[in-house]
Amino acid sequence: MSARVIAMDGPSGTGKSTVARRVAERLDARYLDTGAMYRAATVQVLDSDIDPADAVAVAAATVDLPLAMGCDPAQEIVELDGVSIARRIREDDVTANVSAVSAVPELRARLVDYQRAIAEDFDEVDDPHGGLIVVEGRDIGTVVFPSAAVKVYLTASAETRAARRHAQNLELGLPSDLADVLASVQRRDEADSTRKTSPLRPADDADRVDTSELTLDETVDAVVALVTDRIGVAH
Ligand code: DC
Repeated sequence: MSARVIAMDGPSGTGKSTVARRVAERLDARYLDTGAMYRAATVQVLDSDIDPADAVAVAAATVDLPLAMGCDPAQEIVELDGVSIARRIREDDVTANVSAVSAVPELRARLVDYQRAIAEDFDEVDDPHGGLIVVEGRDIGTVVFPSAAVKVYLTASAETRAARRHAQNLELGLPSDLADVLASVQRRDEADSTRKTSPLRPADDADRVDTSELTLDETVDAVVALVTDRIGVAH
């Protein structure tokens, strides 16, 4: 039996991570955040004092990435060399450089292999999750798992996503300017959707869910309904 993958793709600011985690909890599935893996590679690059724009150096510095990922939606585990970097990967310098690092084809190829290996690493006879795993990213339905059981593509307008990020910043007490946030959302969309390797785009057979007018709870309900409709009761 191979894993039953629920692919969740889409740009940032759609609530994708929170939705993917909650969907995994509701379905009692494992969960993998592939963005966290590209962020971990970025930490390795920054810690090695390498220019993130130097693709050759980035590929070389991440050949042996001592990365360990957890698959529990209720607890984020991201370790580099046995040390937790779960907080570090969310810091500004990592966010600012992850687009450049994640555009390096050699690195992508290695992380895609690792993502497939993680999904298939379960007990076929006795898996408490029935082989179900929610995998979240940008290219999961198009490249990593083209034959995923369900493919969900979350969208929201750039304005909605910027407004959400701006509100989050203010809540965290961070300085924030809505126009700047919108410009940065648009810059990142452009970089992610025009890069040569695995650009961000919905798979032809993906179900699109526009979250612009939906609350988080409504989005989770919509995705769970979609998955149940496609593959029946989880397990
Ligand atoms: O979802 P996130 O913001 O944590 O993702 C971080 C970056 O990694 C983002 O710039 C897109 C990139 N990414 C990717 O290229 N492919 C994936 N499967 C997941 C993330």
